[in-house]
Amino acid sequence: MSIEGRLFGVLARADAAADAVVKTVAEAATENPADPAVDNPCTIRMADPAVIGRALRASRAHTLGVFACYERALGPAAMAVPYSTEINPPLWELGHIAWFQEYWISRNPQIRLGIGADSDAPRAPSLRPDADRHYDSSRVEHTARWRLPVADGAATRDYLDRTLDQTLQIVDDWPASTNPLRSLAYFGWLALVHEDMHGEAAIYMANSLSIALEASRPRAIGTDGSRPHAGSNCLEIPAGVRETGSGDAACAFDNEMPPQRTPLDTYAIDAVPVSNAAFAEFIEAGGYDQPRHWTPAGWVWRERCSPGWPRYWRRSGQRWEQRWFGAWEAIVGEAPVSNVSAHEADAWCRWAGRRLPRELEWECAALAYGPQAGMRGRGAFAWGEVWEWTADAFEPYPGFIPHPYRDYSLPWFGSRRCLRGASFATQARMRYLRYRNFFPAERNDIFAGFRSCPR
Ligand SMILES: [Fe+2]
Repeated sequence: MSIEGRLFGVLARADAAADAVVKTVAEAATENPADPAVDNPCTIRMADPAVIGRALRASRAHTLGVFACYERALGPAAMAVPYSTEINPPLWELGHIAWFQEYWISRNPQIRLGIGADSDAPRAPSLRPDADRHYDSSRVEHTARWRLPVADGAATRDYLDRTLDQTLQIVDDWPASTNPLRSLAYFGWLALVHEDMHGEAAIYMANSLSIALEASRPRAIGTDGSRPHAGSNCLEIPAGVRETGSGDAACAFDNEMPPQRTPLDTYAIDAVPVSNAAFAEFIEAGGYDQPRHWTPAGWVWRERCSPGWPRYWRRSGQRWEQRWFGAWEAIVGEAPVSNVSAHEADAWCRWAGRRLPRELEWECAALAYGPQAGMRGRGAFAWGEVWEWTADAFEPYPGFIPHPYRDYSLPWFGSRRCLRGASFATQARMRYLRYRNFFPAERNDIFAGFRSCPR
């Protein structure tokens, strides 16, 4: 079952009270059974108009389904949440999704140029006169989003509906392109991946806010119970010059481009991410109390921000529990540890005599031994249940050129840490092994864990 299927199933089960919006999601899941083209991360980057249209509808059904759970928890008139640097107000988030799609598709006078479009070209007016003032994430300060008189739930849904209708009318008229990066297909793909990213953000926001989604949690992958940090389940990658990054034959993010030829020495890397059980050993050994295991920045974070174990864990008798969408559950020892910061990942590695992988080491191992190489089970590189912190800061590849959505990568170089992979909450079509995720090292609300390498 695709990840989307997992979440649709979850949402349908959560619908015992059957409010109208969630019914729509359940119906959408029934009407749109697994669509291999829509779920395929390589196919989706070719941006065939028919596939993009179906994917945009699927992404929207997911968005509305998750936010229906927010409404059930918070009340339709009280979609307000306490201020946090990690989240956005739910109604702002929804309006922003509609605004972004409208801004880059129906209002974009240079849509046909793809990544050659001038991002500053004057736009046609929005369907909502207040949209540019309220929903432009580049212009509206994060703190201001809590104070804006944004539209209510019904008006926001209406804006979402009307902008999607406009987009789909344009999509229906698209010719297929052999050069998707330099055609209007690029912006359809961009609007889709943008909504998919906000869809995942809505899920980790729900976890932070203890909103019940009944989502399944990270599962044990590629493990037979062996202990990856003991080096018993490591993969060795021989030295060589590797092709990394993305070319221009398909849609891609600017930070993946241009492709690189990367020389790597022989290295070994865990076949699976570090497990809850392995992380619990670090806690039991007093790892959170010994500065020598932490980087200087990590120790500052530990003293200021950490309870002495992962953010959502607690001790209950002899066992550890994790808060999962508002419910406390016993941790599953073999499952990957999740919701740890890069500082905690660094500290665990120092304690274990290991190191975090470089991001291109991760990419090359996934290429050689991952599911895309036809590898499964023991001896394969298993990924996709948690994002994985790497040792690298988020930096541009040599030859980087920003794409029209300039604020996607450019403002964040140098200040964030790279993550690779995908989480259980990532749409199947977003699971692309060259994809670079990036967050501040202290973030532990995202579904992130790590794997390690021998020093
Ligand atoms: Fe956004």
